[in-house]
Amino acid sequence: MMDPKPEPVFLSFLVLCFISVLILVNVEADYVRPPPRKDLHFPWSLKPSSHPQQVHISLAGDNHMRITWITDDKSAPSLVEYGTSPGRYTSVAQGESTSYDYMLYSSGTIHHTVIGPLEHGTVYFYRCGGDGEEFQLKTPPAQFPITFAVAGDLGQTGWTKSTLEHIDQCKYDVHLLPGDLSYANYVQRRWDTFGELVQPLASARPWMVTEGNHEKEYIPFIKDGFQSYNARWKMPYEESGSSSNLYYSFEVSGIHLIMLGSYTDYDEYSDQYRWLKADLSKVDRKKTPWLVVLFHVPWYNSNKAHQGEGDQMMAAMEPLLYAASVDLVFAGHVHAYERSKRVNNGRSDRCGAVHITIGDGGNGEGLAHKYKNPQPEWSEFREASFGHGELKMVNSTHAFWSWHRNDDDEPVRSDQIWITSLVSSGCVAEKGYELRKMLLAP
Ligand SMILES: *[C@@H]1O[C@H](CO)[C@@H](O)[C@H](O)[C@H]1NC(C)=O
Ligand SMILES: [Fe+2]
Repeated sequence: MMDPKPEPVFLSFLVLCFISVLILVNVEADYVRPPPRKDLHFPWSLKPSSHPQQVHISLAGDNHMRITWITDDKSAPSLVEYGTSPGRYTSVAQGESTSYDYMLYSSGTIHHTVIGPLEHGTVYFYRCGGDGEEFQLKTPPAQFPITFAVAGDLGQTGWTKSTLEHIDQCKYDVHLLPGDLSYANYVQRRWDTFGELVQPLASARPWMVTEGNHEKEYIPFIKDGFQSYNARWKMPYEESGSSSNLYYSFEVSGIHLIMLGSYTDYDEYSDQYRWLKADLSKVDRKKTPWLVVLFHVPWYNSNKAHQGEGDQMMAAMEPLLYAASVDLVFAGHVHAYERSKRVNNGRSDRCGAVHITIGDGGNGEGLAHKYKNPQPEWSEFREASFGHGELKMVNSTHAFWSWHRNDDDEPVRSDQIWITSLVSSGCVAEKGYELRKMLLAP
């Protein structure tokens, strides 16, 4: 009677342990989102007026790089001296300059100078306008492997700073930005501070960007859209046969990348659509086995933010991109991260593209927390956190994608996946006829 049974005590102990483990696991799984951070403060700096500011570079056709910088001095020359050892410039290139006025604001002189031909995978040292400090850049490799850093909707807050620091820690060749750069929101001075903020990274690796809604800065009857963006972030549209800086393409190390515009006409009678068809007809999947597309407003988005905003563009352009066997699509706009399975027409499809929304660079508007439930069948991973992505194209058939959440200032790899190309899965060959028919249609 008095003999206590050990079993129930032991059992309750086990149950207690089990509960504590559950609580611990839950704390781990229930990620506590960090609070928003303030806009960065930029002190005025006193530099000579011919001193180059806001230096950034972009790919400009085969083996060429465009160097962009701003001077307060209107007569500063648009020349770039460069070479492969520090302080010894063996080549000089002359470029062009522009400027713009926006209400009461007058921009500095914006210089664009194309240098090249350049060697692949090589470090170059350069100086802008014969003045100021020396910069260095690295050209992308001739072939695989190549790594892209991807982050959209950057802005200029404490979180932007932490995203940029994490990108700086990774070894990458080219930065891809699917729209919403400075969040200047009509205050032109903030385009200048954004230029200063990104200079350490953007002067060293090419930044390839496409426009978002925050680039528009349109004022009815007074200002056309994209004036500051087009003047400051000139991309290789002429080099890729486009008539607009708002859509263009480029090739790098076995990848053909197409930058589309979510805020310019995209219907089948539009100039953008015609250009897209012409551009796709030039793609040679033997030379560039990977086909990647970027634009701002996502087509596959299960976040409640910006729901349905990409539907019209998707209806107009997805059939063409599907026929062309696009491997990957990156978008921004929604301030969160989401990755789809291979999808087409709203359903998973082995020959469709993987769609990744990565509008979580760190802007001051904060994160988009609310998701539609249940999670759609095509959606594989979604999370509202700031962060950046890394896309390593390993060879013609395999790419490794990872997304790194900014967790307490540490870049934490939170999502990762191997992606195999549509060339290797046979889709490109299967759809060759369909594509040719679409490209030839008037
Ligand atoms: C491509 O890379 C993957 C992953 O590292 C590897 O398994 C595969 O064998 C490689 N293919 C070729 C053709 O080198
Ligand atoms: Fe946006």
